[in-house]
Amino acid sequence: MDRLIIFDTTLRDGEQSPGAAMTREEKLRIAKQLERLRVDVIEAGFAAASVGDFDAVRSIAGAVRDSIVCSLARANEDDIARAAEALLGAKAKRIHTFIATSPLHMEKKLKMTPEQVLEHARRAVRLARRHADDVEFSAEDASRSELDFLCRVLEAAIAEGATTINIPDTVGYAVPEQYGRLLGTLRERIPNSDRAIWSVHCHNDLGMAVANSLAGVLNGVRQIECTINGLGERAGNTSLEEIVMAVKTRRDVFDLEVRVDTTQIVPSSKLVSNITGFPVQPNKAVVGANAFAHASGIHQDGVLKARQTYEIMRAEDVGWIANRIVLGKLSGRNAFRQRVQELGIPIESDEELAAAFARFKDLADRKAEIFDEDIQALFSDEAVVPHNEHFRLVSLSQRSETGSRPHARVLFKMGARQIDSQSDGNGPVDATFKAIESVIESGSELLLYSVNAITSGTEAQGEVTVRLGRAGRIVNGVGSDPDIVAASAKAYINALNKLYTTVERLNPQIALAP
Ligand code: KIV
Ligand code: ZN
Repeated sequence: MDRLIIFDTTLRDGEQSPGAAMTREEKLRIAKQLERLRVDVIEAGFAAASVGDFDAVRSIAGAVRDSIVCSLARANEDDIARAAEALLGAKAKRIHTFIATSPLHMEKKLKMTPEQVLEHARRAVRLARRHADDVEFSAEDASRSELDFLCRVLEAAIAEGATTINIPDTVGYAVPEQYGRLLGTLRERIPNSDRAIWSVHCHNDLGMAVANSLAGVLNGVRQIECTINGLGERAGNTSLEEIVMAVKTRRDVFDLEVRVDTTQIVPSSKLVSNITGFPVQPNKAVVGANAFAHASGIHQDGVLKARQTYEIMRAEDVGWIANRIVLGKLSGRNAFRQRVQELGIPIESDEELAAAFARFKDLADRKAEIFDEDIQALFSDEAVVPHNEHFRLVSLSQRSETGSRPHARVLFKMGARQIDSQSDGNGPVDATFKAIESVIESGSELLLYSVNAITSGTEAQGEVTVRLGRAGRIVNGVGSDPDIVAASAKAYINALNKLYTTVERLNPQIALAP
């Protein structure tokens, strides 16, 4: 049977979402999870964007063995050399080079003539092939490009040795029928088209990224570029979980094999959401909390009699696990280690295990039943002390009573100093944030505050997401705790730590020259 290649770009295009910037360690954790998910290609980053991006691509290239590791590179010598250098340690590597081909992008963004763009594309693929046998070429904004010119560029890229040709719908403008036809036409008209694998890369601005990608598949495409939870710039990218489950569930239509281990979909979704601070909407297909919940009596009755009446997929096949009490206060370090391993959480050293076990004991003192999801939260960004830690919560007390103004007292570390700060507020969370802000004076704006329960029941831990914005920069912070005011304080401090860590980097789509 024919195979569909799953190319995951969570760590590159996904990371371009405002507030989704990740540290090298976070990217490494996600890359290891993507390998466990068995995606074919991991786009680990854009090596030339910054020193941090280069390091992240290099670490992932050294750590991943079962997926191809890829770096993006603009169509110029420096970017390609940087990508090649970062990928040196990879077992299987790909260089992904791109240049825009639409009249608008060529004239306004690149300030280049079509002939210059054609020459850059040709040269970029030639250079990339000196470093890797596996080279992907993307014609940025392909869906708004002029057909004859697009055919010339792609034919030249294949002639120079591009092994994958990607047709991005960069601004999410395409509609399925037309986009599918474009792919069919390109494959038909370009004389050497059979020498490359055809790929789609769709953005979700009109909510059609998944439909457009699948229209491509029906027209001979054999690679889909996508992200976990559909993370990505603006409205995001094609969502990996929806693509994989559509192709698996509708085998009658697509007739394609996918290598992905679907039981790793939900753990991947949770990890990415937790690290980036982008919550998953409850009604999101496949990975939303309600995706398999049946509230209406008629549906519940039907599902109990015969599951297929209202379910086309099985929750356990995509990695939903029933809330299981796995450990408690009396559990020892070995039982903890074993469960962590079963959940696929990588532990690099004895010190890391000891620190996680201490967090577990602390939680077990406050919460009688510890579920798998609680263990996963113990390894979240905020729980594992981040590298660039400027502030850390020490303790929090707050008082709220009907009819009186809530008050919070927060003890936190600012570098080596311990700060004791108090404030009133409209509610306990407001008082807590004001107490922190009155000392730090970040001047940031609170753009989003959301609380979700990690498991069900009133005993569950609350998981809070806080989004802060300052001078055009957006960061997300996440915190979890059985006490939601404490979870809020942790999330706020987690966001501030990110705000005070400056990451200078280029965005490939807005950087001017190729
Ligand atoms: O959306 C886009 O065009 C891209 C390319 C760089 C592949 O992300
Ligand atoms: Zn993109």
